[in-house]
Amino acid sequence: MAKVKTSFFCQNCGTQSPKWIGKCPSCGEWNTYVEEIIQKEDKNVNKVFSSSSQRANKPTPVKEITLSNEQRIVLPDNELNRVLGGGIVPGSLILFGGEPGIGKSTLMLQIALSMPFHKVLYVSGEESDQQIRMRAERIGIKSNSCYILTETSTQNIFKQIELLEPEILIIDSIQTLHTSFIDSSPGSISQIRECTGELLKFAKESGKPVFLIGHITKDGTLAGPKVLEHMVDAVLQFEGDRNYVYRLLRSHKNRFGSTNELGIYEMQGSGLREVNNPSEILVTNRRDPVSGVAISAMLEGIRPMMIEIQALVSTAAYGTPQRSATGFDLRRLSMLLAVLEKRCGFRLGAKDVFLNIAGGIKVEDPAIDLAVVCAILSSGEDIPVNPKFCFAAEVGLTGEIRPVNRVDQRISEAEKLGFEDIFISAYNNKGIDPRKFAIRIHFINKIEELFSELFG
Ligand code: TYD
Ligand code: MG
Repeated sequence: MAKVKTSFFCQNCGTQSPKWIGKCPSCGEWNTYVEEIIQKEDKNVNKVFSSSSQRANKPTPVKEITLSNEQRIVLPDNELNRVLGGGIVPGSLILFGGEPGIGKSTLMLQIALSMPFHKVLYVSGEESDQQIRMRAERIGIKSNSCYILTETSTQNIFKQIELLEPEILIIDSIQTLHTSFIDSSPGSISQIRECTGELLKFAKESGKPVFLIGHITKDGTLAGPKVLEHMVDAVLQFEGDRNYVYRLLRSHKNRFGSTNELGIYEMQGSGLREVNNPSEILVTNRRDPVSGVAISAMLEGIRPMMIEIQALVSTAAYGTPQRSATGFDLRRLSMLLAVLEKRCGFRLGAKDVFLNIAGGIKVEDPAIDLAVVCAILSSGEDIPVNPKFCFAAEVGLTGEIRPVNRVDQRISEAEKLGFEDIFISAYNNKGIDPRKFAIRIHFINKIEELFSELFG
């Protein structure tokens, strides 16, 4: 009888150890080691895709490698195409992660259902056929070539793939799969690693793209070992606040394109809608100007968009003033308040300050600083900012207005959306020809200058 081989794996980062240890030397987490059975003996049962892997490769000079002019598969979804760098490269393995309930299964099913010219196999280990059918009804079935398989054993999945020969494979989710070559339970590190390895082999040998849906742990990283991220060609992440309807699709890794692209969707009753012009949803169209609102020209990755910042400044009702920020770093808000207090003499020490970024979006772009400051000043003074004004600059500790990157893109976006004036840093004037733009560009050095321009 073959000896059963076991090993201990950190469930957080996937580090292997021959014995149990309390603290993982690799990721520093405590109590994450679990014993898993690794059976190496009957690995040769893996017949399905083992034949061609016997082929020995020879070194080739790089110029002699023939480039097969492979066509990317262009998806019916422009946002996903953009994030992937212009469609799916044949044979690529794409990991798609996100929090539970964010809409991963919905997006993947929606894509599978809208590709009538490609045979797509959607393998689900999480939902029953009926549940998927019900969801498909909501989304709308536009294709006769989308097949559903509820299965969790990789061997059975490969058998069905041989029979069906799909052109695109979607796995929902990698954590539910198990392979019979390993004895540990589905979702454990060694199962995830082994199943991904089998799917990787399938993708590379057959040239068919594979999407893997992956769960996310409570601290926001993809569940499963880091090696998973090394194995795949692209890692996409679906983000957003579940209480809001907007979802952001980012790529953290992409072997075939840039990771700066961003996709935006809106969750509707009938699936996810692509949002082609994000500024429209992030800026409220008001007829009467109200105080405490300022618009910023921000960048998400390399995508410029206009976003509305709202602030409410009021006299503190209870002894200690409250500061609260949604979608913006609270420490950065405190810093901006301190700059306003110390450098510009605005008395905000005894005021409650609430800050909100529209649409439930978290913004890290420092260029929204200036709009944050404007919204706070506008609310504090109770004077509305002209709704045709927008802002793009960082605020430094001395109250100076600092330049931001890609300012010409921000100006163009503001101009395109009908803004009349944009306020940027005076240091951003190099390379910008104000005559090229129909929008008025104000170059600002200090917050005081801004204050006098805005409120007189
Ligand atoms: P789901 O795709 O199941 O999330 P995940 O696979 O990431 O766990 O998304 C489920 C949520 O989406 C659920 O709360 C309901 C909502 N939803 C809609 O609002 N409209 C729809 O058309 C569909 C299919 C789902
Ligand atoms: Mg799901």
